[in-house]
Amino acid sequence: MEHNIQRRRFLHIMALLAGSGALGQLLAACTAAPVAQQAPAPPGAPGPAVQPTVSPEPAAALRFPTGFRWGVATSAYQIEGAVQADGRGESVWDRFSHTSGRVQHGDTGDIACDHYHRYEQDLDLMQSLGIQSYRFSIAWPRIFPSGAGAVNQRGLDFYRRLIDGLLKRGIQPLPTLWHWDTPQELEDQGGWVSRDTAQRFSEYADTVFRAFGDSVPTWMTLNEPKTVVTVGYLQGFHAPGFHNPHKAYAAMHHLLLAHGLATQAFRASGAHGQIGIVLNLMPIYAADADPQALPAVRVQDGYENRLYLEPVLRGQYPNDLLAAIDRESNLIAMIKPGDLETIAAPIDLLGVNYYGPGYVQANGDMVAGPHPRSLAGWQVIYPNGLYDLLMRIKQDYGDLPLSITENGIPTNDILNGDTVDDRERIQFLHAHITAAHRAIQAGVDLRSYHAWSLLDNFEWAAGYSQRWGMVYVDFHTQQRTPKRSALWYRDVIRAHGSKLVEPSARSVPQPMAPIADRAGRRS
Ligand code: FCB
Repeated sequence: MEHNIQRRRFLHIMALLAGSGALGQLLAACTAAPVAQQAPAPPGAPGPAVQPTVSPEPAAALRFPTGFRWGVATSAYQIEGAVQADGRGESVWDRFSHTSGRVQHGDTGDIACDHYHRYEQDLDLMQSLGIQSYRFSIAWPRIFPSGAGAVNQRGLDFYRRLIDGLLKRGIQPLPTLWHWDTPQELEDQGGWVSRDTAQRFSEYADTVFRAFGDSVPTWMTLNEPKTVVTVGYLQGFHAPGFHNPHKAYAAMHHLLLAHGLATQAFRASGAHGQIGIVLNLMPIYAADADPQALPAVRVQDGYENRLYLEPVLRGQYPNDLLAAIDRESNLIAMIKPGDLETIAAPIDLLGVNYYGPGYVQANGDMVAGPHPRSLAGWQVIYPNGLYDLLMRIKQDYGDLPLSITENGIPTNDILNGDTVDDRERIQFLHAHITAAHRAIQAGVDLRSYHAWSLLDNFEWAAGYSQRWGMVYVDFHTQQRTPKRSALWYRDVIRAHGSKLVEPSARSVPQPMAPIADRAGRRS
């Protein structure tokens, strides 16, 4: 399915390019600069075909800038449970997970980690690990149970307790306003396909800014709009479960508009602090040295990265994709005067979720390339891709402060007495943190790193079948057990990274057993 979609997009673009004569120029450029010898793109030019870097030799201990923060990330629907507590309304993920066949084993977030009731214990746990920054999300349906109308004070009270609990323990709160749990009542009125939802989101955002603006130093508007556009509206594996390009690109535009409106509301609220958006980005490489792959690389880079970076940071949709997208969605008619200026309302920092790179063949298909996949079939493990990605953002978009807002891996964790020996996760985190450090040394303004995730949790369409946490959760007893990686991370934080060294090429994670297609598959 995902390949079909990518292929369809690719053919559209090829047709477009052929019609405009640009294909010939692109191919000529490719022949002149074959993949292996391609010069770096000039500053300002979006350059998708980054070449993979090579793992360097072991080096000296690492030094992270003073003020660099070590964090962990979670999201509301994945950990909170208590879906009917204190007046919370239904979200699209409640409805989706309760629809038969949508989530593996019929799992739901009804209870999840029961964090809503156990947050004090989870805050203590974070404190004991020395966590400095906690990225969580606020559930819109707890604040506005039907998406709009009267505020649910008890919902606000929960996040007030959470934020105060963090501050009391010296942990910086980093809330995200929307991590996919749109109120179901808004969905019933069109959800993100409807322009009104962007307006409702900015009202919700304004309420939350006014409630917590005095206590929160940094906010994120949206988490990964791309995943919802592709997996929720094109592939149908996530809520709301459509296979519809028209809906998908309407949702994309209105999500971005919602981000811009919320950013404007933030400035107008007079709240101190900073605001940004979280995008999941990936370096795209050619799968082989075939110069024919370069146009496909650029197209895929467009869909994965530029489609979100360009409007948010430059106030424009990528010209090379717009006509093809418009043909399947009528996107252009949805862009009203002033929308792109709103979407590009200045942000203070960009949150980057990095899970792996993409490799593209000349025919437009995405493949794993030379790297192993993790237990999440969609994830390709390539730590140096994080370095390439951060460098590319700097090169193309300048010195915007960045935060790694998610990075992690699911492993086959087995509770053995009171330990879980997740050495694969330690290797993964080590290799990615050192790649991030290399980017800092090369001048990237990276402010913080957040491991995904604090706790094992509800992993969307994969339910509880994938364990992404540094803390093991027994979902029957709700017992939390820090895995070896949690204790390792605690020591990394204590030493501010200074005990880490560049891993040698030999210590890069070994390929794992291939996993067949899973319901939890993503793009
Ligand atoms: C990211 C999501 C996060 C989690 C990780 C594994 O795409 O933002 O909620 O599911 O993947």
